[in-house]
Amino acid sequence: MRSKLHVVICSTRPGRVGPTVAHWFHEVAIEHDQFDVALVDLAEFNLPLFDEPKHPRLQQYQHEHTKRWAASVNAADAFVFVTPEYNHGPPPSLLNVLNYVYLEWNYKPAGFVSYGGMSGGMRAVQVEKLTLTTLKVVPIIESVVVSMVSQYIEGGAFKPNDIQSDAAIAMLNELARWAECLKPMRNHSAK
Ligand SMILES: Cc1cc2nc3c(=O)[nH]c(=O)nc-3n(C[C@H](O)[C@H](O)[C@H](O)COP(=O)(O)O)c2cc1C
Repeated sequence: MRSKLHVVICSTRPGRVGPTVAHWFHEVAIEHDQFDVALVDLAEFNLPLFDEPKHPRLQQYQHEHTKRWAASVNAADAFVFVTPEYNHGPPPSLLNVLNYVYLEWNYKPAGFVSYGGMSGGMRAVQVEKLTLTTLKVVPIIESVVVSMVSQYIEGGAFKPNDIQSDAAIAMLNELARWAECLKPMRNHSAK
């Protein structure tokens, strides 16, 4: 069975550019044709600040919003986080949804499409990796970096340069390898 890739739009604010960048990557991933690809928008999940009384490891979720989010994370075999950088760190919207579940994240690889000003969101990604490894997500080294993101948006669409296009393919190739390698880890841990 083909692996399922979730392309996650991490910013949630009105007027965000996240969906524009994510739609481009979503199309690239579909054309790449090694995953079943779904676009996941954190704004649509609209999760409040983490409000579960029990540790997520127990999976005793009290709220419908958590059950819905857990089902989404559980359905994926791999993730690409399309992430901005806010104040040299991750957007709180992403850190919040990471905390909501635990086992559903375990033993799945993740890549990043990061964007921002000069930094291209790289400082945010470095911090995101720390939390993700605690959730037993495997962050991969191949990534897409978009510095000065507004310069790549024309007529409401993201227009990548050659470096970004090549980087997207390199990341998807590596992600597909990791997605297959990690599946037995998940089967083992379920026993
Ligand atoms: C609260 C806030 C903090 C920001 N901090 C940074 C930053 O540290 N580094 C950076 O490159 N861009 C920063 N920016 C600019 C963002 O890169 C730019 O607004 C981008 O469009 C944000 O992604 P979004 O539109 O998907 O929310 C910041 C923007 C906001 C709203």
